[in-house]
Parts: sequence; structure tokens; C-alpha cells
Amino acid sequence: MAADDLTRRKFIIDTDAGIDDAQAILMCLAASDVEVVALTTVKGNATAAQVTSNLLRLLKAADRLEIPIYRGCEDMLLGWEKPDEYNYHGKDGFGDVPDPDPPSRDRIQAKHAVQALIDITKQYPGEISLVALGPLTNISMAIRMDNQFGSRLKDCFIMGGNYKGEGNVTPSGEFNFYSDPEAAYIVLNSLGCPITLTCWELCLDCFFPWKVHEELRSFPSAKCELMKTLELAIVAECKKEYREYEMADEMAMACALDNDVITKSHDVYATVELHGHMTRGQMVVDWRKVLARKPNVRLVVEMDKVMLKKMLLKAFED
Ligand code: RIB
Ligand code: CA
Repeated sequence: MAADDLTRRKFIIDTDAGIDDAQAILMCLAASDVEVVALTTVKGNATAAQVTSNLLRLLKAADRLEIPIYRGCEDMLLGWEKPDEYNYHGKDGFGDVPDPDPPSRDRIQAKHAVQALIDITKQYPGEISLVALGPLTNISMAIRMDNQFGSRLKDCFIMGGNYKGEGNVTPSGEFNFYSDPEAAYIVLNSLGCPITLTCWELCLDCFFPWKVHEELRSFPSAKCELMKTLELAIVAECKKEYREYEMADEMAMACALDNDVITKSHDVYATVELHGHMTRGQMVVDWRKVLARKPNVRLVVEMDKVMLKKMLLKAFED
């Protein structure tokens, strides 16, 4: 039974959509007990401007164009630029497949995403769950603009980092943390609300075989057709290289939607290396409590894959 607005949980999703971001957002839109109060965009898989266009395309396919989109930071804190070899999601973040009928950009909110993060958490103190699916630039800026921002959040779910030092863009860097390590450092060390973190190594454990992907794309809906269109290049590349169906943001979203999907986690102190010649952007976990710092993240190391698959299917069933 659909929950009413008073009882529905309130989410803000900060995203660099991205094809996996798109699927994670669809998972959230299918959750009847969640209200997506806002989508905020950040540079990552594409420019923040392009990500707003990608979100309009996604919301149109999901018939949810009423959800407000706020454009965020166009530069990482130190101005990092994504090299072409990191274009797994295409230059435009959505598989470089032109949108034949783009919704009007007039729908994009005039307010900057960082200001929206600050204002919405003032409007709903203690009620907002923030799901971060891209580089943490916007969120770090919100912390620096308003040092009470994080304490007004109910909780935060982040896809990023690595707890065994395994990278996906450099030997030691996962994209979201590597592309803006200063932002990740600020968020992990200063946000001030419960953080649940799903890292790259967890994603590697949660990849599904292609037959599951085929199930997910077997529904006769505009959103399913859109995902198939956006994924054309990725599917071809992964199958050519005998890679499984890779996901990332979906795991963070699953944890945000239902805590029961988490089967093993550790409360640890984690931070981000900023200066290493080979390790800039790597997440560092103080497993042996050498630094005697209070744990700042709930690090998810295992998920219920049967439940995760059901949540993915639910995104496309209606
Ligand atoms: O490392 C995976 C992350 O980088 C995901 O958020 C994906 O969308 C990309 O942004
Ligand atoms: Ca992302």
C-alpha cells in the first residue's frame, strides 16, 4: 500500500548520472515508501549540465518529471578533468546516444544544487536521507557553506571509495573518490551524520551474470527501453571483454531503501589519501584502530544478492 506523504521517507539523490546512477534512481522511484524531494547534479561521468539533461531524459521515461532537478558544481574542488579513457558511460554519461525528444531545460531549477541541499535540510531538519552516487563535490561545498548542514541530515548513503585499495580508474582509486579526493575527505571527516558506505570491492562481489541483465531488460516500458538504449555500448564492451554485468550505484541505493539488504558491515574510521604519488584518492580504513578515532562510516562488506535482485526487478515491474 502506498504510504502517504507524512509517513514516506524523504530522499535527496546527488548524482553524476551515469547509467548505473539511472538504474539506482529508478530503484528509488519504485519505492512507494520514499519521496524523492530533489535530484542534485554534480560533474563526474559528465558535466553537471549534461547530467541535468540526462536526468530529464530519465524522469520523462519514468513519467516523473515533477521531481525537481538542481544543477550543481561544474568543477571538482581542485579542478580535476576526466580523461577520455574514463568514458565508460560515454562522454555524455548516458552512452553517447542522442535524445530524440529532450524535455525542456526550463524544468531545471534556478537555485544551485549546493544551496538546495542547504535549504531543503533546513525545511526538513532530521528527515532527509542523502544518497550520493557521484563525486562528493556538492556535499563538501554544502558542509563548507553551512557547518550545520550534515547534522540536519537523517543519514547519508555513499557509493565510493575502496576498503582493500582496489581502484577502478587507477590501481588504487575508485572514480567518485579519485575524481575529487578533497571532497571525499571533507565529507567522511566532517559531514556529522550516520554514513553508510558501499565501496568498489563490494560492487565487485555483487555483479550479476548477463542472464539477470536480460531479465531486467525484459519489461515493455519506456524506462526499460531507455536503459537498453543507453547501455548498448557498455553491454557490447563488457561482453567482448568477458566481463560480467557491472553495477555500482545500485548497491548504495539498495542499502538506503532497505537496511535488511546489508548482511555484513563494519563501523570503522575511514579517510582519504590526498598526497600519495600512487595512492591519491585511495580510501584508508583504520582497521586496527591505530589512530584511536571514532568510527565515521558503516562500511558494507556483504549484501543479500537475492534481495538486491528483487529490488532491481521492482524498478522495472510497474
Ligand atoms: O566507481 C563507480 C562510480 O563511478 C559510480 O558512481 C559510477 O556512476 C561512476 O560515477
Ligand atoms: Ca555515479
